[in-house]
Amino acid sequence: MKFHTIGNNFAAEVSGIDLKQDLGAATIKSVEEALQRFGVLVFRKQGLSEAEQIRLAKAFGPLDGGLRKATGAPSRFSHEALIDIGNVALDGEVSAKNDARLLSRLANQLWHSDSSFQNIPVAYSMLSAVVVPEHGGDTEWCDLRSAYEQLPDDLRQIAENLVAVHSAFHSRRLLGDDQYTADQLAKFPPVRRPLVYQHPFDGRKIVHPSVHIESIDGMSVPEGRLLVAELLEHVTQAAFVYRHSWQAGDYVMWDNRSTLHRGRRYDLQDRRDLRRTTTVERH
Ligand code: OGA
Ligand code: MN
Repeated sequence: MKFHTIGNNFAAEVSGIDLKQDLGAATIKSVEEALQRFGVLVFRKQGLSEAEQIRLAKAFGPLDGGLRKATGAPSRFSHEALIDIGNVALDGEVSAKNDARLLSRLANQLWHSDSSFQNIPVAYSMLSAVVVPEHGGDTEWCDLRSAYEQLPDDLRQIAENLVAVHSAFHSRRLLGDDQYTADQLAKFPPVRRPLVYQHPFDGRKIVHPSVHIESIDGMSVPEGRLLVAELLEHVTQAAFVYRHSWQAGDYVMWDNRSTLHRGRRYDLQDRRDLRRTTTVERH
């Protein structure tokens, strides 16, 4: 396995590994260490099947199925932990422009980390690109450890020790989607997480201004949201961002604790078929 550093030094392109093979504990451990050290790992020309992706993801920890647990939405995949990203409808065609699944997924184009709105210790996500649009549809990640280290002192002092309230529905509401039933809302009550914390791997500090944050404890709603917006502006400066242009067959893994990510605009008529798996910390 070789690691070639890209994207402001927190992403690496990995060569010399075939993810379809049964990798064995030692290799999985090296990949995981690299993932924690860097934040984002890019593997080209993998082309994993559904079953291969599930098997690989499970080697990194128990899987989390995401928001579908609350919405109970049907899936086109055989495995419930495979999360549908992109614009393919249940019948395999490109989604209609007003398809509810598509609209909810557009929130992926706002800066976030996966599943921070759940009371679980989220670790890694992995995206497999099956079909990519001709133009656009890149994904960006930002490096929250370097961003913390370069925070202006006053901002660092304000952010220290604050507790952020994450909600699954905040990003959707921002995009005008508030059609959730009381039952769905009750399945995902808001979750409190420190705004600044240390990475378990290297102890480096992280500031995490995700779009899932709807308020900050001890602050008025506008004051809290303005703080999150200001922090987000800082952590998403070009110097902290890696932008990935997808090729079919790519497999990208990232650490949700040390990065935020977002999708970029593409023509929604143009097929984009990506599949995500997400893991929680194993003990
Ligand atoms: C995700 C996600 C962004 C994209 O898969 O979790 O946010 O580019 N994807 O589709
Ligand atoms: Mn995501």
